[in-house]
Amino acid sequence: MSSDSYNRYREALRNVSKPAAFVDLDYFDNNVRQVLKRAGSKQIRVASKSIRCQALLFRVLQSHDRYQGVMAYHAREAVFLSRQGFDDLLIAYPSCDATDLAAVAEEVARGKCLTLMVDCPQHIALANRAAIEKKVQLPICIDVDMSTKFPGLHFGVQRSGIRSAAQAKALFETIQQYDGLRLDGIMGYEAQLAGLGDHVSGQFFKNQVIRLLQNRALSKVRALRAEVVAAIGAENLRFVNAGGTGSLETSSEEAVVTEVTAGSAFYAPTLFDGYRHFHHLPAAGFALDITRQPELDIFTCYGGGYVASGAAGKAKLPTPYLPEGASLLPNEGAGEVQTPILYRGSQPLHLGDPIFFRHAKAGELCEHFKVLYLIQGDRVVDCVPTYRGEGDLKI
Ligand SMILES: Cc1ncc(COP(=O)(O)O)c(C=O)c1O
Repeated sequence: MSSDSYNRYREALRNVSKPAAFVDLDYFDNNVRQVLKRAGSKQIRVASKSIRCQALLFRVLQSHDRYQGVMAYHAREAVFLSRQGFDDLLIAYPSCDATDLAAVAEEVARGKCLTLMVDCPQHIALANRAAIEKKVQLPICIDVDMSTKFPGLHFGVQRSGIRSAAQAKALFETIQQYDGLRLDGIMGYEAQLAGLGDHVSGQFFKNQVIRLLQNRALSKVRALRAEVVAAIGAENLRFVNAGGTGSLETSSEEAVVTEVTAGSAFYAPTLFDGYRHFHHLPAAGFALDITRQPELDIFTCYGGGYVASGAAGKAKLPTPYLPEGASLLPNEGAGEVQTPILYRGSQPLHLGDPIFFRHAKAGELCEHFKVLYLIQGDRVVDCVPTYRGEGDLKI
């Protein structure tokens, strides 16, 4: 990053009202190519929650035939995307809403491929009800928990209760009892590898511990996934989905895995800066106007309080990154309507100039803006709606 980038974005967005969100298409496309390399020879399913913009989702999918299918985050979203022409939509989180399940079944009746996620008999019964009502057979995916238990530590996330090959096989047998359903695939998200940085600045000792635990977890994850596939039978599975941005290399090394998931890699938000084995380019950001200057080295911007979800902490704050030398004030962070910036850089700043920020997470940036300005060189080449700007998407 340099004053060149600052001036380039400033020129591109000169006539755009701030706050405004943007994507640097050159960086975005570079990240798309990097992900292809990192995923070895596997297919890549695109995690829509980390993009939340139809135009950019499409851009990734049409860039290479190894980009195959979408990992959606909500049944209604998957139906929306299906009606827009997207196909092979894996809904990664279970739905318990009869209306949403019926809408999914309707899309399947139209010949589209939308796969529902389950991890318990109740999910299966609900899906079957929708299938019978709409006279279709619904494809089902079993979510297998890939977290690792160490004494006194749950290393990973709490999602599915399916933790063994025997449990996965029992759920498969339950699915087989229903005429309206068929098993389509299994998914296992090893969040402790895919979403946990091992090279986070300012936490040297914690990074060492994380690496050690990740090393141990890796072999357990591999063994469990292989056992699950063997128990169910690879011939009964259209896909075996694994991983996320932080685990593309390790997930794609597993023989039983047919596809890996990637989403955050494309925008490369700040939470994905802290990994040793990859570095994606910061492709997404937002611009705020400087509206006040209370001290010589403090510039106050309008807006900015776009804090990321998850366990609260400093890492969830947005980061001012251009011009270089800007930082948040510890006592104020990023404010609801105003964000003061301490600035020690060399670029002269004036009222009305922009400061460019990065979000901590990928897709959440799009929840705060109705459009994304797409930048190439020092020009805005397009302006496309985010999910929030899509009138027909009601989630
Ligand atoms: C089931 C699942 N797979 C994969 C991912 C990885 O997505 P990303 O590449 O955006 O980190 C996530 C993110 O939370 C997820 O929930």
